[in-house]
Amino acid sequence: MKESIDRIFQELADLKAASQKEVEEARIRFLGKKGEVTALMEQFRTVAPELKREYGQKLNELKKAANARIEELKFAVEETADALAPKEDLSMPGDSFPLGSRHPVSIVRQQIVDIFRKFGYDVAEGPEIEDDYHVFEALNFPPNHPAREMQDTFFVSTGHLNPLLLRTHTSSVQVRTMEKQPLPIRVVCPGRVFRNEAISARAHCIFHQVEGLYIDKDVTFADLKQAILLFAREMFGPDTEIRMRPSYFPFTEPSAEVDVSCNICHGKGCNICKGTGWLEIMGCGMVDPNVLKASGIDPNEYSGFAFGMGVERIAMLKWQVNDLRHYFENDMRFLGEFATATEV
Ligand code: PHE
Repeated sequence: MKESIDRIFQELADLKAASQKEVEEARIRFLGKKGEVTALMEQFRTVAPELKREYGQKLNELKKAANARIEELKFAVEETADALAPKEDLSMPGDSFPLGSRHPVSIVRQQIVDIFRKFGYDVAEGPEIEDDYHVFEALNFPPNHPAREMQDTFFVSTGHLNPLLLRTHTSSVQVRTMEKQPLPIRVVCPGRVFRNEAISARAHCIFHQVEGLYIDKDVTFADLKQAILLFAREMFGPDTEIRMRPSYFPFTEPSAEVDVSCNICHGKGCNICKGTGWLEIMGCGMVDPNVLKASGIDPNEYSGFAFGMGVERIAMLKWQVNDLRHYFENDMRFLGEFATATEV
């Protein structure tokens, strides 16, 4: 028995395994039910009583050594397997995160403002919640003008003498500019405006405007026409033509509506311009003397022009979007189309 124990010690020391399977085979060979160490443990019963103590100890050590050796081999095989396992491929491209982009309305508003900045205009902003005076009264709206009705304007409070309301145009910012800024004045007023309209493909209760005001000595309708023409060509392309149709606004006299030549059919007539070859882009006119007077400017010394356009409308014409509501629904498929549209 002594020789068997020594031999097994030696064999354990020399034992090798290249795979988990071989480790398992080795375990069965030494420690399985019919394994060599197990067999010796069984033989122990036949050992003479005076030798039992000595062999008992030896056998226990052998069993421990066998267990330890098997564990050792198992660990070694795992280590090599790990080392050989395919590593993460660091050259693989990473997961891409979709980048956000600016909203088309912001892009166009910025383009409009940038064009007028080039012409020497400053930018002015004002409050969205306004009083009747800055939205209507100072702009020569008669007291019973329909825009002052609940159906057209959102009122925040009606209780006072001077009710608060959501501005229906950014002309209110022009009034505020005339009140505080020295002459001459050249500003554009971008901002959000509110009208009590049913939402449809062509109208929304919230939209954006850029309005402009130029006041100096000897400003004429020809200056207005030139400014609008230059703007239209920067915005819609160098071949763009404009035409002006007589119109009416309480705060300008004379007033006009401006059309640009259709940049899709170039005047031939298509369904975007409804066969006319022209697209309406803004209202404009010479500032009414009453408006100048209300803000303390002498209409005998100064004159000026004003214009105002809807940003969504310009964006619709620029990109041939046929439903205004797209700009408010924030559908990622729609917004994603403008990801690269940042240049004028
Ligand atoms: N304020 C007008 C509107 O909101 C636009 C406009 C501005 C017209 C300036 C003429 C002059 O419709």
